Amino acid sequence: MAKVVLIYGSTTDNTEMLSEHVAAGLERGMANVTVKNVTDANVKELTDYDAIVFGCSTWGEGDLQDDFVEFYDAMDGISLDGKKAAVFGPGDKEDYPDSFCTAVDILEETLEKHGAKLVADGFKVDGEVEPAFEDAEAWGLKVAKAL
Ligand SMILES: Cc1cc2nc3c(=O)[nH]c(=O)nc-3n(C[C@H](O)[C@H](O)[C@H](O)COP(=O)(O)O)c2cc1C
Repeated sequence: MAKVVLIYGSTTDNTEMLSEHVAAGLERGMANVTVKNVTDANVKELTDYDAIVFGCSTWGEGDLQDDFVEFYDAMDGISLDGKKAAVFGPGDKEDYPDSFCTAVDILEETLEKHGAKLVADGFKVDGEVEPAFEDAEAWGLKVAKAL
């Protein structure tokens, strides 16, 4: 059973809600999932898991969600060789067409830079997250099957 850590950063709970559904999909795919708010997570523990799933919303004009910034900076120098990874997050295409869900792209790039292998396309949710709960679970299942 693959050991997966799902770490999310969320300001208005949208990513947190999506995380529950992604985690449900991962569990359906027989992964052993630990879900953590990024404020309770430590970069060093990433190496304890087979796979890493990040959930992060985009703020400002294309920035990572505030709580994720410190964690992201702390990843400098870490090796994630051999780890599998995937990233999801909500955003708003209408108001931020030029920076829609760029937090997902930033985290994908950094995971690859540190040696992790992306096992699924980033899952980006536009606008209200509730209609995407089912898709979030399906995406989690897809990630689990790729581990
Ligand atoms: C001030 C502000 C800036 C935002 N900037 C972006 C952005 O650059 N790109 C984007 O896709 N969404 C942007 N959003 C939309 C949020 O990412 C979206 O509301 C998301 O669902 C918030 O998720 P969270 O509650 O998990 O933090 C912004 C929203 C606000 C209020």
